[in-house]
Amino acid sequence: MGSKMNSNGFRFRKVIMIVIVVGLCCFFYVLGAWQRSGVGRGDSIALQITKETECGIMPNLNFETHHSKDHYASKAKAFEPCDVQYTDYTPCQDQKRSMTFPRENMAYRERHCPSKEEKLRCLIPAPKGYMVPFPWPKSRDVVPYANVPYKSLTIEKADQNWVQLEGNMFKFPGGGTMFPQGADAYIDVLASVIPIADGMVRTALDIGCGVASWGAYLFKRNVLTISFAPRDSHEAQVQFALERGVPAFIGVLGTMRLPFPSAAFDMVHCSLCLIQWTSNAGMYMMEVDRILRPGGYWILSGFPINWKAHSKTWERSESEIQKEQRRIEELAYLLCWKKMYEKGDIAIWRKTIDGNSCQRKNDSSVSMCKYDEADNAWNKKMQVCITPFPSVKSPDEVVGKLKRFPDRLFTVPPMVASGSYLGVTQESYEEDKRLWDKHVKAYTKMNKLISSGRYRNIMDMNAGYGSFAAALEPSNSWVMNVVPTISMSNTLGIIYKRGLIGIYHDWCEAFSTYPRSYDLIHANGVFSLYQNKCDMEDILLEMDRILRPEGTIIFRDTVEFMVKVKVMATGMRWKMRMMDHEDGPLVPEKILIAVKTY
Ligand SMILES: C[S@@+](CC[C@H](N)C(=O)[O-])C[C@H]1O[C@@H](n2cnc3c(N)ncnc32)[C@H](O)[C@@H]1O
Repeated sequence: MGSKMNSNGFRFRKVIMIVIVVGLCCFFYVLGAWQRSGVGRGDSIALQITKETECGIMPNLNFETHHSKDHYASKAKAFEPCDVQYTDYTPCQDQKRSMTFPRENMAYRERHCPSKEEKLRCLIPAPKGYMVPFPWPKSRDVVPYANVPYKSLTIEKADQNWVQLEGNMFKFPGGGTMFPQGADAYIDVLASVIPIADGMVRTALDIGCGVASWGAYLFKRNVLTISFAPRDSHEAQVQFALERGVPAFIGVLGTMRLPFPSAAFDMVHCSLCLIQWTSNAGMYMMEVDRILRPGGYWILSGFPINWKAHSKTWERSESEIQKEQRRIEELAYLLCWKKMYEKGDIAIWRKTIDGNSCQRKNDSSVSMCKYDEADNAWNKKMQVCITPFPSVKSPDEVVGKLKRFPDRLFTVPPMVASGSYLGVTQESYEEDKRLWDKHVKAYTKMNKLISSGRYRNIMDMNAGYGSFAAALEPSNSWVMNVVPTISMSNTLGIIYKRGLIGIYHDWCEAFSTYPRSYDLIHANGVFSLYQNKCDMEDILLEMDRILRPEGTIIFRDTVEFMVKVKVMATGMRWKMRMMDHEDGPLVPEKILIAVKTY
């Protein structure tokens, strides 16, 4: 009986073995055939878009049928991959170039871009084993090791729970230097003082963000946070943030103004962000004040708050740190910020809503900045002066009538409605909203992935009033609304008034981000705007650098620019499809959808 059982069992195991071996052979045969075919997921996204645009959804808008594909291929110059040493290349934050600039006030960590001759003209390769990031919200907590293969923070910040390595994945438990137990509990404390839950606080800035868990956890509370930190010894911190799907850029509070308009943020945060707030006669606090809207909140946790408990760790005498906090309190008074809270390691101030009630009016030692320079923040030296309150007809225009989010997204901002916003009228604002609702509806028909959650990190390269981003709401994504520094009107203030986020940038230079930061890039009128300003090729190469493999670009411009783009981008191995405007082929504006396939 026993031996019969044994021989039956042996036969059964043999059959199972044969099935497994045959199964594995079939699997590897199919995998090999798929890889040899050269069809990656990028190609499948391109194919899907091609199919969607071909299969009769918009049959009359296919520009391609009248223009041969060979026409582009024959003219295209092929771009080669860059050397693997450039996998994480950030042209304006290059370590070697940085070191040639002064360390004083962190000048060496600021933007220092390559000259025209020094620019790389090749395609930045992804690291070996790169995977398209997980969809949000999983991406907040898990990032493939291969995408950011740097381990030092897992060791250096182990006790603060920034990031851990488990197998071939990084895990982010949500900790930070001042919130090792997780950002959620820390935000709960802030929310006991700041009206985070009711929609009045929508936009936030995290200075010295680490891996940006603060912003990552605010997203589910409907607060959109831009996080930034320099490319420094906190290895790949901003790259981790972006891979997690959190809005971030490489930046530093150094000698230049931050690239934001005045009165932009509802809340600004620094948790042990290593900034000497009282140095340079309070210049850094004055810069925070410039970008904080009246009625906005400033949160400072860590040094020098709670100095009694921490003086030993900070290796400074109690009296020295106490003096530092006293000086911060004095500066806050001059800036008309009122202390709302101080407990444990956290202190919170609120900027006054109404400039008229501000005490400093009578203080002759205060130097005020020029009002018309308040929004001039690109390549502009930071100054030791206080930005005047926005000039409005009533304080209500600044915050009183500001709607709660999401109503704030579509209501005409009070400053626009009252005519206080230069060059923008209620009519132009409303017309822009209508137009972009229509355009985005057409985009969604051309590419269904837009509404599917596939694209988390989105960039609008020429954002205008932010209506493209507004038309995508509500969504699980975020849009970095870029207002080019050469735009006719400075609309970034309006974008913030709507509860969206954005930044100034000059597209003749590299953006302050890592390669592979964005899933979707929207380029509306970028090439007509930059005509005769710099090379189209350089702008396209920069777009290629910051776009993730399998990411998509939607171009919108007049036909002559679109044809040139198509020729150049053919040499960059993008799969593309040109479409007519949704109003028909007679409109000179065309739409080009491109997918990065490597
Ligand atoms: C101790 S870590 C704290 C990180 C994060 N705030 C947290 O609580 O986990 C200090 C952070 O400040 C950043 N940092 C240092 N100097 C800075 C500066 N001048 N401007 C902006 N960030 C700075 C560092 O790169 C790092 O991200």
